[in-house]
Amino acid sequence: MLVLGIETSCDETGIALYDSSEGLLANALYSQAATHAEYGGVVPEIASRDHIRKTLPLIRQALDDAGKRVADLDGVAYTAGPGLIGALMVGAGIGRALAWSRGIPAIGVHHMEAHLLAPLLAAETPSLPFVALLVSGGHTQLVRVDAIGRYTLLGESLDDAAGEAFDKAAKMMGRGYPGGPEIAALATAGRPGRFRFPRPMTDRPGLDFSFSGLKTFTANTVRDLQPLTGQDAADVALAFQDAVVDTLVIKCRRALKATGIDELVVAGGVAANTDLRKKMAASVPAVYYAPPELCTDNGAMIAFTGHERLAAGAVEPLAIATRPRWPIAELAPT
Ligand code: KG4
Ligand code: ZN
Repeated sequence: MLVLGIETSCDETGIALYDSSEGLLANALYSQAATHAEYGGVVPEIASRDHIRKTLPLIRQALDDAGKRVADLDGVAYTAGPGLIGALMVGAGIGRALAWSRGIPAIGVHHMEAHLLAPLLAAETPSLPFVALLVSGGHTQLVRVDAIGRYTLLGESLDDAAGEAFDKAAKMMGRGYPGGPEIAALATAGRPGRFRFPRPMTDRPGLDFSFSGLKTFTANTVRDLQPLTGQDAADVALAFQDAVVDTLVIKCRRALKATGIDELVVAGGVAANTDLRKKMAASVPAVYYAPPELCTDNGAMIAFTGHERLAAGAVEPLAIATRPRWPIAELAPT
């Protein structure tokens, strides 16, 4: 079964082809990051318009890369949520129309489920059940995974997402968007020990997160340092990154202990952070990631997730339905 995957939930147009027997055959990506950079964050209307421009050319490119034709497709998967409504509608509209024109099934994929399953595309894969830490620009969640589609939310952020905190910290220091890679790069020149930032909500029981206090602490530190030198920025970046990473590691260990599970999956854009990976490796018995290029938004994870559901016989009505908000625990098992 050959499935086309379409990701347009935010600022990346991702198109991929996944085949039951041949695996991932193509993975084309266009990032709008440079377009949004001058605004300091994603502008939803610009994102939708750019997806309209890029989706069809990237579908053609992915088919060419794989040596396939539209007639070879057996199904189409597109991101149906959560995400920016206008951006989602582009992928959903094109995906459903393409499937309808070919008489093949289409399926709306949950973006965070796709992040969560992306590690199954790596060489080393986890076994069920596992605990997943989902850390992206919009979500910070700990999820117990018993099977594809059987998810229990263990904890989540009460305010900002971890990726969002990285983005805002970078912005405070006049750095570009997305902030995660900027902070990570700055932190390499940071001197340990100059600042110690709080590890929010780690001193009381529970698996929820909160990053807004850390954001305020960072803002106050940066304000007190004005004019900020390059070394100041590096030291703040390191202290900030240490605080976020420690908090995530502590909560993951706690979730594994509470569930009695020893395999952890870390997924979403923040999973690309090398410091996070280093500290997780030292603190958790078994941790799995998607290949680095499949940690941030991409079409491959959508094609794969759609494939798993379509191959299990999922059937959806023709209506083009998208959901800006969509709790992952509402998903049905395959
Ligand atoms: O999963 P993703 O690509 O998009 C969403 O679904 O949100 O995640 C994007 C987020 C951004 O907030 C970005 O700053 C963060 O992931 N990110 C990182 C790194 N690379 C991307 N955060 C920390 N370190 C990184 N290396
Ligand atoms: Zn994402």
